[in-house]
Amino acid sequence: MDLAGQAKSVDDLRDALMGFEGCALKKTATNLVLSDGPVDAKLMFVGEAPGADEDRQGVPFVGPSGKLLNAMLESVGLKREDVLISNTVFWRPPGNRTPTTQESAVCHPFIERLVEIVDPEVLVCVGAPAAHTMLGQTQGISRLRGKWFEFQTTRLSHPIDATALFHPAYLLRTPIKKRDAWADMRMIAKKLSGG
Ligand code: URA
Repeated sequence: MDLAGQAKSVDDLRDALMGFEGCALKKTATNLVLSDGPVDAKLMFVGEAPGADEDRQGVPFVGPSGKLLNAMLESVGLKREDVLISNTVFWRPPGNRTPTTQESAVCHPFIERLVEIVDPEVLVCVGAPAAHTMLGQTQGISRLRGKWFEFQTTRLSHPIDATALFHPAYLLRTPIKKRDAWADMRMIAKKLSGG
């Protein structure tokens, strides 16, 4: 928590995580996957955990889920290059399993600090695990999506509008849900344009 709290920039966070030995996932991962996109982004996405492609390249959401996420952004007139993208944990869990509560808890001060540094207008939690850790909610993603929450920390001077989205990996397996996800993307784009 102290290490994360001292970081003043994304580079500080990266340096801190490079030297951090408190998360066992680091041992099996190839690369640290911290963030992609501009630090002054108005829109920030937080996913669950890096997968195989992300682990290889050290960049979040570059595999099949990332490609669908890019298409979803484009469909509502947003560009991936304008969005800051990260995850609740920064190393790939072996076999892409869901991060354990302990792994998420250990990484949490770092993702929380990243949100404070970026201070976006809108925070989008991608998938249930991200919505649960970031928003402190326990309901299933179907109940959390399409609604607005407030993300607040002791250091933020104001709450950040936050919502949840079906994970693109789920949408790839369950295309019938794409309609809801696109409605959610429109809701996010509207909020960004002041609606
Ligand atoms: N899925 C995630 O949740 N995050 C990534 O970075 C890639 C796939």
